[in-house]
Amino acid sequence: MAGAGRPDEETISMGKLIITGAAGGMGRACARLLGAAHSLILTDVAAGPLDAFAAELRREGIDVVGTFAGDLGDAGVLAGLTGALDDGAPFALVHTAGLSPSMADARTIMDVNLVATAKLLAALEPRLAPGSAAVLIASMAGYSAPAIEAVDALMADPLAPGFLDAITGAMEAMLGQASPMASGMSYAFSKRGVLRIVERLAPGWGARGGRITSISPGTIATPMGQLELDSNPQVGQILRSTPAGREGRAMDIAFAARFLLGAEASFITGCDLRVDGGAMALAHSA
Ligand SMILES: NC(=O)c1ccc[n+]([C@@H]2O[C@H](COP(=O)([O-])OP(=O)(O)OC[C@H]3O[C@@H](n4cnc5c(N)ncnc54)[C@H](O)[C@@H]3O)[C@@H](O)[C@H]2O)c1
Repeated sequence: MAGAGRPDEETISMGKLIITGAAGGMGRACARLLGAAHSLILTDVAAGPLDAFAAELRREGIDVVGTFAGDLGDAGVLAGLTGALDDGAPFALVHTAGLSPSMADARTIMDVNLVATAKLLAALEPRLAPGSAAVLIASMAGYSAPAIEAVDALMADPLAPGFLDAITGAMEAMLGQASPMASGMSYAFSKRGVLRIVERLAPGWGARGGRITSISPGTIATPMGQLELDSNPQVGQILRSTPAGREGRAMDIAFAARFLLGAEASFITGCDLRVDGGAMALAHSA
């Protein structure tokens, strides 16, 4: 509307966007792509890289309204993120923070990938306003975790008291204590848990005019992707046979996130989009 101040911002801006894992490979790509349309609220446990990246974005003219360094499961970080949102206004979320199998033990992986995800969504829930949209980054590994009724029942409530003890106990019972495969199994189950959170929350979000989806990446060229490629020969095998014939790029994930957050995806909620170059399709058809 002419004369109303800054009409360009009113028409272009799509509200505030929280990006978790903002100092990581996918987080950075999402910030660069989505920063054109959103004001950004960035968080990561890596304080130095987060601050440096935010400064870089600001120099490029991207509006970074706040940075919150710390563990995503930390109540102070979550309070900072939600406090930076505008009352009653829709928000967007791209949640990329996570740990891969080579980065931590089974318990820590479950804590960061699933419990912190549940804490983040619980913190955001009171702020839901019509038009809000969330994209959680899961993984193709989530499709490799077997459907085990008892484990799925536990993962239905990652915030239940004693959850981490119960789930690590269940995994140890399957694998035996101190198995070298424990971290990989925890990663797969934590991501299966993320896929199920999306299905479980979609009806409630829908009732309040919000949408929630996930993306399951294949092998993506980021610091995490490289680490897994270097430490697990199976990752290289999957990559070499990927139908798309190449490794994924962080921007492939950012493009998918932009679509899922945008108006063209307004009928899409409660589901997962695999951005894996066809790797899972190949695994399922073998
Ligand atoms: N790269 C791949 O090949 C691949 C494949 C499938 C799924 N994924 C998933 O994609 C997401 C993004 O991965 P990426 O490749 O960008 O990894 P990355 O390691 O480059 O970035 C992840 C970021 O998360 C942050 N982080 C880790 N633990 C945290 C915590 N407790 N609190 C706050 N921040 C924390 C890290 O500091 C890092 O900056 C992850 O959830 C990962 O599991 C990655």
